[in-house]
Amino acid sequence: MELIPGLYQITGADSGPVYSDDYDCNCYLWEYEQGEFALFDAGAGRNVPELLRRIDKLTGDVRRVRYLFLTHHHADHIGGAAALRRETGALTVASAHCAHLIEAGDEQGIGLEAARNAGGYPPDYRIEGCIIDRLAGDGEVWQLGCQKLWILSTPGHCRGAISFLWDMSGKRILVSGDTVFQGGAISLLSLPDCSLSEYKETIAKLDTMSIDALLPGHLGAILKRASGHIHKAKIEFDKLRIPISFYHLATILGRNNL
Ligand SMILES: [Fe+2]
Repeated sequence: MELIPGLYQITGADSGPVYSDDYDCNCYLWEYEQGEFALFDAGAGRNVPELLRRIDKLTGDVRRVRYLFLTHHHADHIGGAAALRRETGALTVASAHCAHLIEAGDEQGIGLEAARNAGGYPPDYRIEGCIIDRLAGDGEVWQLGCQKLWILSTPGHCRGAISFLWDMSGKRILVSGDTVFQGGAISLLSLPDCSLSEYKETIAKLDTMSIDALLPGHLGAILKRASGHIHKAKIEFDKLRIPISFYHLATILGRNNL
């Protein structure tokens, strides 16, 4: 599904044209230069052939995907990374903290063991470790063809989470992983590497960035005035409250498959 020219959502867990698997996050494909693409997040890895078919349809050749950027180490975002890296030849990119866990396929470290025990994944679901080719650090600016891509450290949902920001077609785009969603919802989990205080700082940082389009890891993309959604989360934190939970919002919207 084309969100804006050159930018596509290719997966999702919601019913509709981008549905791919109940456990997939949203994955986004960006043509940053003619014939050169970057993929953001890899899905849970239960339906990689379908992802490749969709990528092939949009790119003409899956090997035109040069980068696979990973927002964080949770299984619904990285489960397909190893297979996608093999099939596309893309360079995988993650923060140093996440890279360590992803390469090791550390099911405890990435929270998969706990999530599976909590019923968040099928009992037989496993992930494959994936080599990370490049590390991305806070404040770095990557040159992709003629485009600049900013790396932002955005911990809170989990340690090592990063977001990606760039300008295109007169819009400032943010791929936020599971950091912030429509309506200013957040994903605070009862896992050891989830931090409310870091979350508050992350939302305050994002609130300064005049984001037009928010491309989150779940629910829908916001294509206009996304900073208003982020600001709602900021207001809640400023009032010493906790913003609405993404999980509760998804349930209210009837879009919680799990
Ligand atoms: Fe996550």
